[in-house]
Amino acid sequence: MFARLYHNKLYDPMQLNVKKINFHLSKLLFIFLISFLLQSCKNEMKKSDMANIAAPVKIEKSIFGVLPDQQQADLFTMTNKKGMQVKITNYGGIITSWTAPDKNGLYEDIVLGYDSLDHYVKNNPYFGAIIGRYGNRIAKGKFSLDGKNYSLAVNNIGNHLHGGIVGFDKVLWTAQIMEGEEGSLKLTYLSKDGEEGYPGNLQVTVIYTLTNDNELKIDYEAETDQATVVNLTNHSYFNLTANKTDILGHELKLHADKFLPVDKTLIPTGELLDVKGTPFDFSGQKLIGKDIPAEDEQLAFGGGYDHCWVLNTSTDSLTHAATLSEPISGRVLEIYTSEPAIQFYSGNFLDGSIIGKNKVVYGHRSGLCLETQHYPDSPNQKAFPSVTLKPGEKYKSRTIHKCSVLTDKVE
Ligand code: BGC
Repeated sequence: MFARLYHNKLYDPMQLNVKKINFHLSKLLFIFLISFLLQSCKNEMKKSDMANIAAPVKIEKSIFGVLPDQQQADLFTMTNKKGMQVKITNYGGIITSWTAPDKNGLYEDIVLGYDSLDHYVKNNPYFGAIIGRYGNRIAKGKFSLDGKNYSLAVNNIGNHLHGGIVGFDKVLWTAQIMEGEEGSLKLTYLSKDGEEGYPGNLQVTVIYTLTNDNELKIDYEAETDQATVVNLTNHSYFNLTANKTDILGHELKLHADKFLPVDKTLIPTGELLDVKGTPFDFSGQKLIGKDIPAEDEQLAFGGGYDHCWVLNTSTDSLTHAATLSEPISGRVLEIYTSEPAIQFYSGNFLDGSIIGKNKVVYGHRSGLCLETQHYPDSPNQKAFPSVTLKPGEKYKSRTIHKCSVLTDKVE
């Protein structure tokens, strides 16, 4: 019996040893194969990442529509390798749509706007537009420079707002596509001496650049032939959710310890107030809806937030100005700027009367603006950083918007 078992292959000790060796060998082979596969995957990923970085951003031009003066406005669609898409028209330099990924990688539009040029021409509360020559307010539309008095168009309860009746948001810019690893759209405009009451011919360039790192950079430059005032910004209304109901569930952090209180016509009083202990404290990520209902004179003047925060800038380089996030979509928008301040406007004047893209009704506070800029009314407030541009000088300003998701490290 034993002999039978002994001679049975199953119980052959030699055979068992060979099996063991074979088993170990195949284990080794398996481990080797797996690590080889992992390594080549890693290499592949590196290669494709590099391809992503090196691949040019695509820019396509199409006709957006015809303006009342029969000029044609174009639409430029910039698409990066990750799938982020930004559409810009040369009418007002308006960003009409801008997609960003949510926590599941779904790209959806994060800005308010219209589907057609006609709507932008008829009634645009500055959706997505370039704002100039002077973004924000100048008290009573008056200022003096080098001993001369200037009167600007008055278009907002007795004050001058966002460049006047026909600001940079309502003019046709000359567009030039600059393709490369990063895709840029260069817009230029000559604002003539006397336009909306401003002195000097101002040659303005705004370059929108989309990177493969989900950033949209905006570079502003201007030169003049007479002393003038300049304060350029972009007026995109952000809503990081797909449904575009109000922005009260968004969270905001502003890197600012002080803000500028205003009078009831929203002109700064000249003071710089500490945000600490006030509803204006956004020094940590805070729900926008948290303090907005507070009984506060400043909130009453603005009908919500419509104020300028003084950024904690330490150097001349870019300051991390703001982080906006929305917990359900997981979308995050970070803003870096060379400007000394940021206007946070909580969309208080949106009241449901506008029907926007995809027939969505834009209700009260359905979008918010984060406008990087110099302080409002600076031409009249000598203690504020200067906004004067003289012949021979170059106005330069840069703002970067970076889109990411909450799982990424957010500072
Ligand atoms: C201003 C608001 C104004 C809005 C117009 C914002 O930049 O601060 O007061 O109503 O623009 O859309």
